[in-house]
Amino acid sequence: MSKLDDFDDLHFPRTEVPEINRLIADDLNRRGFLQKSVGAGFATFFGGLGFGQDEAVAAVDPAKPLLGFPPVSASTLDEVMLPDGYKETVLISWGDPLFPNTPEFRQTADASEQERQFGDNNDGMHLFQIEKNGATHWVFAVNNEFYNTETLFIHQGRLSTAEDIRKAQAAIGVSIFEIVERKRGWRVKRNSPFNRRITANTPMTLSGPAAGHVLMRTPLDPSGSRVLGTINNCAHGVTPWGTYLTCEENFNGFFGSAGEPRLGERDVRYGISKIGNKDYDWHTFDGRFDLEENPNEQNRFGWVVEIDPSDPLSTPKKRTALGRFKHENAELVVNRDGRVVVYMGDDEGGEFIYRFVSTNPYKDGDVVSNRDLLDEGVLSVAKFDDIKEGETQGKGRWIALRAGEGKLVAEQGFYDQAEVLIFAREAGTLMGGTTMDRPEWVTVDPKTDTVYCTLTNNKSRGSSDGDPVNDANPREGNQYGQIIRWTPADRDHTAETFTWDHFVMAGNPEVHQGKDNPYAGSDNINEGNLFNSPDGLKIDGKGRLWIQTDGVSSNSDDFKGMGNNQMLCADPLTGEIRRFLVGPKGCEVTGIAFTPDHTTMFVGIQHPGEPPYPSHFPDYGDSIPRSSILVVKKKDGGVIGT
Ligand code: FEO
Ligand code: CA
Ligand code: CA
Repeated sequence: MSKLDDFDDLHFPRTEVPEINRLIADDLNRRGFLQKSVGAGFATFFGGLGFGQDEAVAAVDPAKPLLGFPPVSASTLDEVMLPDGYKETVLISWGDPLFPNTPEFRQTADASEQERQFGDNNDGMHLFQIEKNGATHWVFAVNNEFYNTETLFIHQGRLSTAEDIRKAQAAIGVSIFEIVERKRGWRVKRNSPFNRRITANTPMTLSGPAAGHVLMRTPLDPSGSRVLGTINNCAHGVTPWGTYLTCEENFNGFFGSAGEPRLGERDVRYGISKIGNKDYDWHTFDGRFDLEENPNEQNRFGWVVEIDPSDPLSTPKKRTALGRFKHENAELVVNRDGRVVVYMGDDEGGEFIYRFVSTNPYKDGDVVSNRDLLDEGVLSVAKFDDIKEGETQGKGRWIALRAGEGKLVAEQGFYDQAEVLIFAREAGTLMGGTTMDRPEWVTVDPKTDTVYCTLTNNKSRGSSDGDPVNDANPREGNQYGQIIRWTPADRDHTAETFTWDHFVMAGNPEVHQGKDNPYAGSDNINEGNLFNSPDGLKIDGKGRLWIQTDGVSSNSDDFKGMGNNQMLCADPLTGEIRRFLVGPKGCEVTGIAFTPDHTTMFVGIQHPGEPPYPSHFPDYGDSIPRSSILVVKKKDGGVIGT
């Protein structure tokens, strides 16, 4: 077991704040991001990672504590709760029109209407600032992860038809739309030329080492390089050249078969089965998702997909160099030598954390050179060593997944790099990656180059059908989750080694008492900030760490006092965590974005009303619940979090 009783020691020493501000400025200068980066198309970048955040950094007042808002109590109400002094409105909900001449939300909408409306279950998202024709445009790219059969169809999913499946395929993917700020707040601009829906049927290409491989070829696409659609788009990433990365997570559930598909161990490792997710019935009506008819189609999902939001006619590209697994997000950072580093989690119990390092460097403003940077590089898997006796941090290293090296050879079934990437999970196991407690979002703190990753929970940890505990994942039957963090050697994101510790172990000190009780959580957990299952995670441009949850909202037993899913805000230096928002009943809080001045925050509310917690959010009355994006403002117009 790790030093669960020593959490104070696991926190970074409190650095003098003025020193930190100097480090931030140095860091941004070093990365060359004090000037605005103009990338592919017309997009400029801002948001996470400190790109273009000179204004934001200068605005941080070192005399004031980072967390300035009064904490919010846990809640089980069917409402959004915010601190005093804050207010929220709804920007958009599932089924709202994204184009002119499109019906307003109605549950009876058909597939062609849904294709012109906001998708279901919004998750990762980013607001792009795009300069075009002498004007600034605010363009949102939002993932639509999956759909709720209980609400997508009037019949609640009890008797699917081919038309239902077409509607379902139109309800997921990505929604791209322009927003404008009016006197009464932010509004969707329905007649914007940027608006676009990307669905499970949008043509895209496969690129990188696995494109064209025999395992990627299908009867419909003998080239193995053209694919229709993206599915189960969980969280996201952003590049400094102005593109959006959407990450395919639980793709396996959309495949199935009424026949007798030949499934091997490699397929089973990804959860591919004849039955699939029983809520979806795509294979019955669309042969592309039938595992017997199209055994290779599944290999074409589980990737990171790059989209240019500035060009609605652009073709999305699946970047196979980043590996195939159940992708959560793709946190991209430009290393000081210019190479692009992408950190990624694979959200399943006992799976891995990965890192991609590009072969070539990012070149500011060089559209041609940057365009395919994500096609060539090295994918590695993380190994977290146990903490040595008497030390407070562990060591770890990245192990490259390269065909022909170590166990990734023909005798083990790996004939080329394409196979290593398509079966990245198996490659990670052979090379000794550390099995994690369901890695979700990763975020990088540009002030310290420390990388944070949510490990949401893993109930099978330590059981007979799970992996044994290790120091990074130290609790048996981990029902609460933790946030792990690591700092690369020499603060070089391409370095082979790093040091790690936990930022927080979620827990319940009210239920599990005793200093040595691991389920009580770390020292920065208290009666006022109880939560479980951290998932969404982002360091904003002012240095605040936002934590969103997707866990048990029973508010009883182990989860007593936690209430509905929520969003918390933390100070990465002090470790303090304060509850900022509570979502309505049965929802998950996921997806976060800001305007560059941080006076507007956008927060995603996904699947409100998930059984057994009925909700009428956001329309109330007798309405069915709808996933939505909130606009959060401070009543005095100030920076969010102050
Ligand atoms: Fe889509 Fe792992 O959450
Ligand atoms: Ca998630
Ligand atoms: Ca989750």
